[in-house]
Amino acid sequence: MLVNELSIRIRKEVRDGRFQVATTIVFCLSIAFLLLVVGMIINDHFKKFVIYEDLHFSPLNAFPPLYSSSVSSPHPYMRQCNSSDAIHELKEWISPKDLWHSMSDEELMWRASMVPRIIEYPFSRTRKVAFMFLTRGRLPLAPLWELFFNGHEGLFSIYLHTLPEFTHEPPESSVFYKRRIPSKLVQWGRATMIDAERRLLANALLDFSNERFVLLSETCIPLFNFSTIYNYLINSNQSFLSTFDDPRPIGRGRYNKRMWPTITLSDWRKGSQWFEANRELAIAIISDVTYYPIFRNHCMPPCYMDEHYLPTLVTKVCPNLTSNRTITWTDWSGGGSHPNMFKRNDVNKGFLESIRSGFNCTYNSEMSSICFLFARKFHPNTLQPLLMIAPKLLGFNP
Ligand SMILES: *[C@@H]1O[C@H](CO)[C@@H](O)[C@H](O)[C@H]1NC(C)=O
Ligand SMILES: *[C@@H]1O[C@H](CO)[C@@H](O)[C@H](O)[C@H]1NC(C)=O
Ligand SMILES: *[C@@H]1O[C@H](CO)[C@@H](O)[C@H](O)[C@H]1NC(C)=O
Ligand SMILES: *[C@@H]1O[C@H](CO)[C@@H](O)[C@H](O)[C@H]1NC(C)=O
Ligand SMILES: *[C@@H]1O[C@H](CO)[C@@H](O)[C@H](O)[C@H]1NC(C)=O
Ligand SMILES: *[C@@H]1O[C@H](CO)[C@@H](O)[C@H](O)[C@H]1NC(C)=O
Repeated sequence: MLVNELSIRIRKEVRDGRFQVATTIVFCLSIAFLLLVVGMIINDHFKKFVIYEDLHFSPLNAFPPLYSSSVSSPHPYMRQCNSSDAIHELKEWISPKDLWHSMSDEELMWRASMVPRIIEYPFSRTRKVAFMFLTRGRLPLAPLWELFFNGHEGLFSIYLHTLPEFTHEPPESSVFYKRRIPSKLVQWGRATMIDAERRLLANALLDFSNERFVLLSETCIPLFNFSTIYNYLINSNQSFLSTFDDPRPIGRGRYNKRMWPTITLSDWRKGSQWFEANRELAIAIISDVTYYPIFRNHCMPPCYMDEHYLPTLVTKVCPNLTSNRTITWTDWSGGGSHPNMFKRNDVNKGFLESIRSGFNCTYNSEMSSICFLFARKFHPNTLQPLLMIAPKLLGFNP
C-alpha cells in the first residue's frame, strides 16, 4: 500500500518537474561544501607556510613580512620538477662528492659491484688513477706525495683507510683533505686487513672515473713522476697483482685441507700484498662471496691472508687480468718475515736509480726496464733526503 502510494507520488513529482529542481539543489550544495573544504585545506596549508616564514624572519625583523612577499617565494615542492636537479643527481651518483657515508660493508660492496651495461658513458670521462693508502694515522711522507701530485688535478683520486680513532684532518690546501673513508680496526696479517683493502677498493669504485686502483702503505714512495706513472698504468692492458706457486712451507705449507674442494692445493698461490688493479679486476675482488669466507675461516696466522687470498682468488676467477707481477718494490734480501726498512743514510741517487732501472720485465707483451713504480719501506726520517733528491731525479713539476 505505502510503496504503491510513494511511487505514484514520485511519478507525479517527476511529471511536475519538482524532482529535477530538488536534485539540482542537492548537487549545488555538495559542490559548495566541497569548495569550502578545499578552501579550508588550502588556507590551513598556507597559514603553516606563512607561520614558518614568520618564524624564520622574526629574529631579523620585528615586523613579519606581509602575505604578498611570502606568496612570491617558490613553493618547496616545486623543486622536484626541476630537470637540472636530475643531472645533479647523476653527477652525485657517478662521483660522490663526500667520501663519508653510513653504509655497512655489505651495503657498500653491493653498491660498488654494479656495472653499467651500456658501454659508452653519457658524460665525458677522464680516466683517473685511485691511490689507496692503507695507513695507521698521519702519512709520514705526505710532503713528498704532495709534490708528486702537484699540478695533476683531475687525473687522480686519493683514499685513506686509517685507524678508526684517527680523525686528524690536513689543511684544505692538501691533496689529502677530506679523503678518509669510513674505516675499521686492522690487524696485520688477518682478515680485517683484507676487509680494509676491499673497503678501499669499493669506495674508490663508487667514482666511475677511477680506472686503475693502486694499494699503497704509509712507507711507500713513488719512483717516477706523476705523468710517467699515470701513463704506465692507464695504458697497460693488464693489472699488476703478483701471484706465484711457492712449493715451500711458507707457500704451499700454509694451505689448509679444510678449504677443499672449493680451493685445492694446485689453486693455492702466494703474492705481494701491494697490488694494482684495473676496474674489472677491482670489481671481481669486491664481488667475491665464494672464496672470501673460506679464507676468513681457514687462513689465520701463520697463514697470512694478505699474502694468499688475492693471488689465489685471481688465479681462480680471472687469471688473464694480471701480469702476475707487482709494481711495488720491496727488499726481502735481509731474510726473515719483514722486509728491509730504509733509513735516512740509505737514501741517495744511486740507490733510487738502481730500483728505477735495474730490472727487466714484460709490459704489454714487450720487454721493459721500468718494472717498479713504487718502493717501500721508507722510514719517516727519509723524508728530508727524499725531498732533496726526488724532485730533480724523478722529474716532478717545478
Ligand atoms: C633549476 O635549478 C637550477 C639550480 O639548481 C636553477 O638555476 C634553475 O633556474 C632552475 N630552473 C627552474 C625552471 O626552476
Ligand atoms: C688466457 O691467456 C692464455 C694465454 O696466456 C690463453 O691461452 C687463454 O685462452 C686465456 N684465457 C682467457 C679466458 O682469455
Ligand atoms: C699468470 O699466472 C696464471 C696462473 O697462475 C696464468 O694462467 C697466466 O697466464 C699468467 N699470466 C701471465 C701474464 O703470465
Ligand atoms: C735487461 O736487459 C738488457 C738488454 O736485454 C740487459 O743488457 C740487462 O743486463 C738486463 N738487466 C737485468 C737486470 O737483467
Ligand atoms: C696486451 O697488449 C699487447 C700489445 O698491444 C698484446 O700483444 C697482448 O696480447 C695484450 N695482452 C692482453 C692480455 O690483452
Ligand atoms: C716526467 O718524467 C719524464 C722522464 O722520466 C719526463 O720526460 C717528463 O717530462 C716528466 N713530466 C713532467 C710533467 O715533469
